[in-house]
Amino acid sequence: MVTSAIVLAAGQGQRMKSELPKPLHKVCGIPMVKLIVDNVCAAGFDRVYLVVGHGGDQVRQAVPHTEYVVQEEQLGTGHAVDQCREVLADFDGPVLVTYADTPLFRVETFKAVLEFHQKQGAAATVITAEFADPTGYGRVIRDDRGYIRQIVEEKDASDSEKQIKEINTGTYCFDSRLLFQYLKEITPDNAQAEYYLPDVIPLMIRDGHLAAAYLLQDAEESIGVNDRVQLAQAEQILRRRICTEHMLNGVTIINPDQTYIEPNCEIGRDSVIYPNTYIQKWAKIGKNCSVGPNVRLEAAVLGDHVTIEQAVVLESSIGSETTVGPFAYIRPGTRIGSRCRIGDFVEVKNSQVADQSKIPHLAYVGDAVIGSGVNIGCGAITVNYDGKQKHQTIIEDNCFIGSNSNLIAPVKINQGAYVAAGSTITKEVPANSLAIGRARQVNKEGWKKTEG
Ligand code: UD1
Ligand code: CA
Repeated sequence: MVTSAIVLAAGQGQRMKSELPKPLHKVCGIPMVKLIVDNVCAAGFDRVYLVVGHGGDQVRQAVPHTEYVVQEEQLGTGHAVDQCREVLADFDGPVLVTYADTPLFRVETFKAVLEFHQKQGAAATVITAEFADPTGYGRVIRDDRGYIRQIVEEKDASDSEKQIKEINTGTYCFDSRLLFQYLKEITPDNAQAEYYLPDVIPLMIRDGHLAAAYLLQDAEESIGVNDRVQLAQAEQILRRRICTEHMLNGVTIINPDQTYIEPNCEIGRDSVIYPNTYIQKWAKIGKNCSVGPNVRLEAAVLGDHVTIEQAVVLESSIGSETTVGPFAYIRPGTRIGSRCRIGDFVEVKNSQVADQSKIPHLAYVGDAVIGSGVNIGCGAITVNYDGKQKHQTIIEDNCFIGSNSNLIAPVKINQGAYVAAGSTITKEVPANSLAIGRARQVNKEGWKKTEG
């Protein structure tokens, strides 16, 4: 059986008070529209259409492989769905409709509602939820026998209707033929002068079709993001959900409320995550690592038994048993090997550092290729930029770079060589030699007396 889905993302989201279209506001680092489209796709819907309008080009870029339909004027959710009439003209089957501002729906829920809808043989199935505070949501009106009758928007609701705690989550399954047939009949005759999608339901019932309600167990899943307060609530819910998943997989998270892990990151068993740690953009952490406090990993890949504290690692990899920080900055394009030590106040950029090398403190390493067993002394720097171009520094295995050295790139230090502390190195250093590149010390005996 072929299934379709429609995701509505054309509205402006006025209550966000933002230049950015609402679907692009991020929850746990991912634009809301991407979260929901990814989950709809993961649920296995065959044809997925995104309805865009306000900021449409930008919104489409967040989900570039999704087919889209343009709603030129935002006349309501019913009107938005109606824009798919042509692309679905050849389709006869179940269609899921969901909104881009309800980003927390689970893949399993989309699958479950589709199954429920088909079992019921319903024309429409609405996912509903019970909220202690239902303010702002459409309320579900049921008849005496408990069947859903209609949905009344907050702005159109009477005082007694406002007391109802069961809300419309904005996610539905419809029989596509009946959906488009009844969309022709809805009118904008309501408080917001909009074409409301849920208004098809009473029309279907009128003609003897079945409307069903699927009550969500976990109401939090259906939170709608209309303003920044709800955005923060959604963030908290998803953050907890992600942390819980990692914890159940064997990761210790000292304080899940202060640990910020984006979706699609991996953490190996027995790793411990300390507070105020940000794990972002598909970062991967191996087993038995210790990460944090105060760490940000963006697209970083860590081996096993890595210890990293008070540090930022961007688009780089860190080998097993290496320690990083406190106060280190690893910039994009860096590959640190195993059993290395990158210490305090060290910046490494676009460099390779092979196994068992140490850069323990106060150093800058940029555009360098460093062998194994190398020791870079305190205050040593690669002088990689001449004001116009970046140049490479090569330091071969087992070299020792004395403290406060300047390695003026391009330059090569061959295997096993030593650079004396305080040197400024401008020429290649041969293997196993000692390079001293500094002014000789002169002591002027009794100097103070003659000056005086
Ligand atoms: C909607 C529902 C309400 C439900 C709530 C759940 C309607 C009429 N109301 O209310 O019953 O409880 O969601 O969160 O459906 N959109 C378009 N084009 C438009 C208008 C909206 O694409 O012309 C999109 C928006 O971008 C948004 C979604 O539809 O993603 C919902 O619109 P919104 O205005 O936020 O509806 P609510 O008032 O929250
Ligand atoms: Ca909404």
